[in-house]
Amino acid sequence: MSAAVITLKTQENASHNLIIQRPPAGLSLQGRIRVPGDKSISHRALMLGAIAEGETEIQGLLLGEDPRSTAHCFRALGAEISELNTELVRVKGIGLGNFQEPVDVLNAGNSGTTIRLMLGLLASHPGRFFTVTGDDSLRSRPMSRVVKPLQQMSAEIWGRKGNTLAPLAIQGQALKPIHYHSPIASAQVKSCILLAGLNTDGKTTVSEPALSRDHSERMLRAFGAELSIDPETNSVTVTGNAKLYGQKVVVPGDISSAAFWLVAGSIIPGSELVVENVGVNPTRTGILEALEMMGADIQLENQREVAGEPVADLRVRSSRLKSCTIAGDIIPRLIDEIPILAVAATFAEGTTIIRDAAELRVKESDRITVMAQQLNKMGAKITELPDGMEITGGTTLVGAEVDSHTDHRIGMSLAIAALNASGTTTIHRAEAAAISYPNFTNTLVEVCR
Ligand code: S3P
Repeated sequence: MSAAVITLKTQENASHNLIIQRPPAGLSLQGRIRVPGDKSISHRALMLGAIAEGETEIQGLLLGEDPRSTAHCFRALGAEISELNTELVRVKGIGLGNFQEPVDVLNAGNSGTTIRLMLGLLASHPGRFFTVTGDDSLRSRPMSRVVKPLQQMSAEIWGRKGNTLAPLAIQGQALKPIHYHSPIASAQVKSCILLAGLNTDGKTTVSEPALSRDHSERMLRAFGAELSIDPETNSVTVTGNAKLYGQKVVVPGDISSAAFWLVAGSIIPGSELVVENVGVNPTRTGILEALEMMGADIQLENQREVAGEPVADLRVRSSRLKSCTIAGDIIPRLIDEIPILAVAATFAEGTTIIRDAAELRVKESDRITVMAQQLNKMGAKITELPDGMEITGGTTLVGAEVDSHTDHRIGMSLAIAALNASGTTTIHRAEAAAISYPNFTNTLVEVCR
């Protein structure tokens, strides 16, 4: 079987068109691959390293645009962070409460995790003034979810549209601890409040309606913070006046990046792929459960624990997928994988329903509208729901001109759909992949060989 033709073309405005042409006889994917470091863990390693005392060594850091934004901001706050050009990165921390006042606006780029987690730290630095902003996408995403609880802690924050949108200005204050009942299951909200709580006089608790990813909790403990967790109520309590100490962090491969290959390997007949060294933290493995419900053939091999996070190699073989319903508490455990799950559902037999996922509308793009519009251009049958999608499977996709809308996960999901579509697909603004997966196109070429 011949390989797909995959071409990357730079446009006059420097954006990239990724052109994917499947051979008429089809193709199958083979190989053992690795995905880049976990984005959530990478951000946290840089941030905790920056506020710890002593040196932190990070192995396997994601060298994507989002962690670069974090590194850039925390350098401006006084931490010494080595160049992000090898996967081994060193951070010389400045100790909690010791940020310097930056001389310019802190720019979080496209990264919601950078801006929201950083806000908790900035707001709790008395006597210093900070301004934060981001790119077009980030400046349209809701910040009230962190501004409101921080204000309850006495934070002083101003921003556009009634303090709900960046750019934001922060006058650091001595904050008071609170018990916050978050209305949404969000690791960014939870982590923001916990980080703010580190520098208070007392205990700060956050509870959430369903469990979101717990990387902050694991890493805060490893760095020496005092934390208690009540699984019954999904609540976490951090003790203030904390002291953190530099650590060795090993970042596993990102399951959100592995998800593209798990779906590609499942839907493309005759495929067998092994994705090595993937983080399988139970707060992130909703994608494995959803694909299992759909009849995917995925095995976890060589399961182990590395630096406080569970890791495995994932073997996927192609199989006939069937529809399923994805809703409820599983949603926060697979929220970033819904665009690629929509691709899987398009090739599955029956109608897949995704609900309780209104959060998708405030990600890097409105992932419900954008995914439905773009996949429908290729012949998919996706109907938007206010909080999800209804996807009629078993459709044959035909190559088309589609657009990432500058959203990394949309661009990569469309590329996987293109591998299983007849003819040629052009994905506009495909460079968005560099946010979380700079090597995506190279690996795509590698597995198609
Ligand atoms: C993240 C949490 C999730 C996720 C995002 C990364 C994190 O966002 O979608 O990509 O690193 O904490 P929410 O907390 O908004 O659900």
